[in-house]
Amino acid sequence: MNSIPDAFLTKPIVYAIRDSYQIMVPVTCECVMWVRVGERNYYDDSGGILRSDTTIHRMIVPMSELDRERQYTVCFRRMPERKPYFTEPGEVECYTSAFRPVTSSPIRIYHIADAHNQVEKPVAAGKFFGNQLDLLILNGDIPNHSGKIEYFTSIHQIASQITGGEIPVVFSRGNHDMRGVCAEKLADHTPTDNRRTYYSFRLGRLWGLVLDCGEDKPDENPEYGHTICCEDLRRRETEYIESIIASSEKEYAAEGVENRIVIVHIPFTYTPKPPFDIEIDTYTHWAKLLREHIKPQLMICGHIHKCVISPTGGPLDNKGQPCTLVCASRPVKDGPFWGGAFTLYPDRCNVKFTNSEGEISEDSDIIFEP
Ligand SMILES: [Fe+2]
Repeated sequence: MNSIPDAFLTKPIVYAIRDSYQIMVPVTCECVMWVRVGERNYYDDSGGILRSDTTIHRMIVPMSELDRERQYTVCFRRMPERKPYFTEPGEVECYTSAFRPVTSSPIRIYHIADAHNQVEKPVAAGKFFGNQLDLLILNGDIPNHSGKIEYFTSIHQIASQITGGEIPVVFSRGNHDMRGVCAEKLADHTPTDNRRTYYSFRLGRLWGLVLDCGEDKPDENPEYGHTICCEDLRRRETEYIESIIASSEKEYAAEGVENRIVIVHIPFTYTPKPPFDIEIDTYTHWAKLLREHIKPQLMICGHIHKCVISPTGGPLDNKGQPCTLVCASRPVKDGPFWGGAFTLYPDRCNVKFTNSEGEISEDSDIIFEP
């Protein structure tokens, strides 16, 4: 459509959260920003104040609006000096992008986790479907840790280079993302549901639930130096899952939903060796809630640095898996990066593990329970 302004670090990224898109734009200079969809502007503001003291902007747009318009225009004014009175900003500059909502059948999804700061190889793997890709999933541990704000750049670069801002992305947090002095600022740089890192989304006939296990060892593990409270995060998350089920809305069974997936960095139905064998009761309860009520067709995970398909009763099922679980990421030291290519039909999913060198190691059909 038009070239990327030098004020943008990457192309915009369109994240899906609940029934909204969060359009995020990392920037190289201070500016105020809004996005125009159809006849309406959606601003990056803080209670009516346009934000400029930030390295990334977020504009929240109702999905129904962008799905209809299939195009958005990011507008911004550079802000060389923001004064209390008579600020002199730059002229309005614009960047227009096409957008394609998830309406195709089958739905082509690429899954990347555990990039651990790598960009080039995960991007090469993520181009598997070319311009037929409908949805990108970034499932945790994309940076190696959150020690500096610039480490979040790998998230923006991977998302932008694979999707070009023209299709949606679903983001889920990994345990390494929680480490480092800037971890507490991650929510400012990634999509969240009002700073909540677990949430549902609806993209056409696909309903998804993003869960967040937090860290992978007990809160008191010396590695964390008393900087986390994940037990309490998981307790709140249990209440959230229960509230989805208790709601009269039953969003996972709403009209038009034909596919239900769970996206979570850690394959929590698997019980690893100590000290990683945490939260057995909580995770067994989550699996039961999913199995008996939400009935997902597929769980997609990363974290273990292996590409593996675990059917119910399979190698990752120690707690009552609700459905087939696929771990689909494998960074190989000094070698290729592996991710997962999912082709999702209403009644089945084809899973391929593919890598940055164009190789395919798996080609299996998972048939969903009727
Ligand atoms: Fe991990």
